[in-house]
Order: sequence, then structure tokens, then C-alpha cells
Amino acid sequence: MAWLHSLTWFTISFLVPLILWSKFRNRSSKVRRPPGPPGWPLIGNIFDVGTEPHQNFHKLQSRYGPVLWLKLGTLNTVVIQSATAANELVKKHDLAFSDRRVPDSMTACDYHKGSMAFAAYGEYWRVLRRLSSSELMVQKRINDSMPLRRKCIDKMIQWIKEDASGSRFGGGSGEIQLDKYLLIMSFNLVSNFMLSRDIMDLKSEMGNEFFEAINKFISWNGKPNVVDTFGFLKWLDPQGIRRNTEKHLKELLNLVSGFVKERIQEKQLGREKETRDFLDALLEYEGDGKGASDKLSEKNVTIFILEMFLGGTETTSNTTQWAMAELLRNPDSMTKLKDELDRVVGHSRTVEEGDLNELPYLQAVVKETMRLRPSLPLMLPRSARQDTDFMGYNIPKNTMVILNAWAIHRDPDSWKNPFSFKPERFVNSNTDFKGQHYELIPFGLGRRSCVGMLMADRMVSLTLARLIQSFDWELPVNVSPENLDMREMIGLSLRMIVPLKAVPRERK
Ligand code: HEM
Repeated sequence: MAWLHSLTWFTISFLVPLILWSKFRNRSSKVRRPPGPPGWPLIGNIFDVGTEPHQNFHKLQSRYGPVLWLKLGTLNTVVIQSATAANELVKKHDLAFSDRRVPDSMTACDYHKGSMAFAAYGEYWRVLRRLSSSELMVQKRINDSMPLRRKCIDKMIQWIKEDASGSRFGGGSGEIQLDKYLLIMSFNLVSNFMLSRDIMDLKSEMGNEFFEAINKFISWNGKPNVVDTFGFLKWLDPQGIRRNTEKHLKELLNLVSGFVKERIQEKQLGREKETRDFLDALLEYEGDGKGASDKLSEKNVTIFILEMFLGGTETTSNTTQWAMAELLRNPDSMTKLKDELDRVVGHSRTVEEGDLNELPYLQAVVKETMRLRPSLPLMLPRSARQDTDFMGYNIPKNTMVILNAWAIHRDPDSWKNPFSFKPERFVNSNTDFKGQHYELIPFGLGRRSCVGMLMADRMVSLTLARLIQSFDWELPVNVSPENLDMREMIGLSLRMIVPLKAVPRERK
């Protein structure tokens, strides 16, 4: 019997592992992942990400092609970097890739549970998407809010005039730093649309608290977080990112909650306003009777209103700032835009939203800016809801899916001289960013694309037109078009590391 005993042990200790190993090897050799750089044990490709991930992923494209595979710690990641691959994603796999990857910082205060941007694809997201589309994606609703935009932009132009002439009066050059004017104006624009009120004023203390809390929130939230790549460290929060985000998020939610409570009280007292705004639409929503989408809770309304500020202010103000920087670097384009405005609108009145369709060069400048400086160069990362066969590669469930718009917008297969600022490429071309042209995707693609696109386009186009119509702009004395600092940094959106300073002179 001893031989039988030995045979059994031989089988268990040697043959079984060999068979399992060979089975596993066979199975894993059938799994096809996209190409990507080799990673380090444990940390994988973390060093390939760096502080400018959009640019670093783009650099890897020439070596590994348009679909890149990375292992970020324990996180499987696929990066899509060409119009063809983006087309494939939206046409065949939009649903499979329609969940969001939630960064750990956004779980603070249970933000992700009320958010639309970070909601899993499902009933709650659908309700918010429907509600916000009917307020933000319908031309009539956008047209109704035209006077609000005019009012906010008028105020900004007035502040710039006062500050530039104040500086000259004090012996200065009249130079201003454009970002704060643009950001405060964008805040008020969004707040008028959402809440029917200004919430910030450059010339008073109004809104300072909100402004400071949002800046602190952005600075914590923009930091790369080790927990996002090593989920098991969540309990430790080693960099303190969730703790600090939570602190500033609480302040922000308290401030917005004040506006929401006030409106609920007004409604209870029967004090209705003449015009309905976005907050009214959220509070009046009664559900669709199917349970999952009952009335929105006060907390979720508060989170969603805050989300509109986070999604709609820095993105639009930074895009306008980039457009101004590109125009100052490219005086020929500046002159063409000025000439177009003079020819179509003239000096006797201010440019209005109704003029925008008659200003093709302005539209081309906005598109070219969004091509070169997409506000969210890596979109909001998605997550695979199921194992998916994508362009012949096996993408497992829960893989983070990143669309690199920055790379797609510089793909030489789609664009001639992709790194040059050339608005002319869009004149007499029907290419736009509404989701049909996969080579230009500043607002994303498919189900999860930006819900504020129409509003953002109007905000950026009108602000830019007014800035150029109202002033002649020059760079400060020590800066030339050639040495203007155009370095990028990813915050809540793509920022200029060195904010743009310029000298406005009122046009008579
Ligand atoms: C120039 C301005 C803007 C740019 C470039 C921009 C870009 C984007 C992008 C790239 C996405 C993700 C798309 C994807 O993952 O496929 C997004 C999502 C979103 N944006 Fe915008 N955005 C802008 C302005 C706005 C404005 C004005 C609002 C609202 C007032 C807004 C609200 C949102 C929301 C709520 C989402 C999440 C959509 C979802 O997950 O279903 N954005 N935006």
C-alpha cells in the first residue's frame, strides 16, 4: 500500500499544481490586454503618470498606440487616445463604460451619493440628467437666461475698466490679472441661473467665504491621492486628502444649504418668484412614481447645486483665460477677431448672444482654444461595468477608462500642425464639439458627456466677444508673445500655472 500512498502524495503535491498552473497559463495567455509600458512590482505604472498625466500618456502613444494599458497600483487602467478608438467606445461600448470611477476624496460627506457627475449609471443619475438637460440643454431655457449673462458680463467689464484706470491713476501700467474677474463673473452667472442671485462681488466682502472654501477644496481635491491606486489604504487616508476635503466640502455644503433652506421657506410661505430657476425645478420635482426616483432629498439638492458650481465655473473661466492668452500670443488672430466684431456689430452697441451665429471667426477661436486646452483633458474617468471586448482587447470589469482629449486633439491623423493655434482650420468646416466629431471632444462623448455644453459655449463665446469688443489688449511690458508662459497644470480643470496678466485699454 506504501506505493499507493506515495502516488497519491506525488499527485497532490506535484501534478495537481502543475495542471492548475498550465490551465491558468493557458487561460491568461488567451487574455489580451492593450499594450503599455512595463510596470514596477506593486506600484505598477505610477511613475508614468507624473504631474501632467495628459501629456505623459500622450508621449506614450507613439510607442504603444492609441489604446494604452496601465496598472496604477492595484487599479487596471485603459487610456483611449485617438478619434478612431473614441468612436469605437461611444458606438459600441458607451453603456459598458458608463459608470464613473469615484475618487476617494469625493466620498467625503457622502458627496458621491448625491452627485450626478460621480453617480453610477442608473436610476438616480437618469433623474438628475433628465432634470438638468431640460434646464441646460434646451435652447429656449438658455435663451430665457440671456439677460442674466448680459448683466454679469456688464459688471465684469465695469470692474476691469475701474481697476485698469485706477492702476493708471496711481502711476501703474493699467495691468490686471484676468483670472479673478473671469472666475467671479462665472460664479455669478451660474448662481443667477441656479439661484436667481449674485453670490460674489469683487468690490465687497460678499462671497469671500464661498470663494475661499472653494479654492481650498480645489487645492486638496486636485492632489494625486495614493488611496485611489491602493484602495486598501482608504481607512488610513495617509495624505489626509479625504479629511481636508471633508472640512472644506462641509463649509461649502453649509453655504449652499443656506440658499436651499431659504427657498424652501419662501415656498412654504407662498412667496413665489416671478421667474423659475434651476433650484425651483429641483425642489418641485415630485418623482416619477417608480420609487427609485422619488422627490430629491434636501441634502441631494444641496450637493447637486454645489456640483453645478464646481462643474460650471472654473471650466468656463479658464477656457476664456486660455483663449485670451492664445490671442495675445497670436496677434494676427486677435486682429481678425477684432475686425470681425467691428464689421458685424460695430461700436454703437454691445455684442449680444443673438450675434454669435454671425461671428464665425469668434466661434473658430473658441473651438481652437477648446481643442488645444480642453478644460478636462482626461474627462471624468469612467469605470467598466462588465468584462468588455474592446477593439480585440479584454478589459475587465471595474477597469478605469480614461479618454485623453488632450491627445485626441493633437492626433496628427486628425489635425494638420496639431500643436499650432490656427482658428482658420474651423472656418468653413462643419467640425464641432457636440459629440458627432470624435476628433474634437472637449465636452466628452456619449451618455456621460457634459450636460452644461450649450450654456458653457454661450458663456465663453459672449465673454470673449465682450472682452475684445470693449478693450484693446496688450501684454505687460516685460512679456512678449514668444515668452508668454503657457505651462499647464491640472486643478479642478486645466489651469495656467502662471495666471495671465494683460493691459486693457478702453476702445472708444
Ligand atoms: C468650457 C466649459 C466646460 C467644459 C470644457 C466641460 C467639460 C466636461 C467634460 C469633459 C465632462 C465629462 C464628460 C465625459 O466623461 O464624457 C463634463 C461633465 C459634466 N459637466 Fe461639464 N464642462 C464645462 C462646463 C459645464 C457647465 C457650465 C456645467 C453646468 C452648469 C457643467 C456640468 C457638468 C456635469 C454635471 C457633468 C457630469 C455629467 C455626467 O456625468 O452625466 N459643465 N463636463
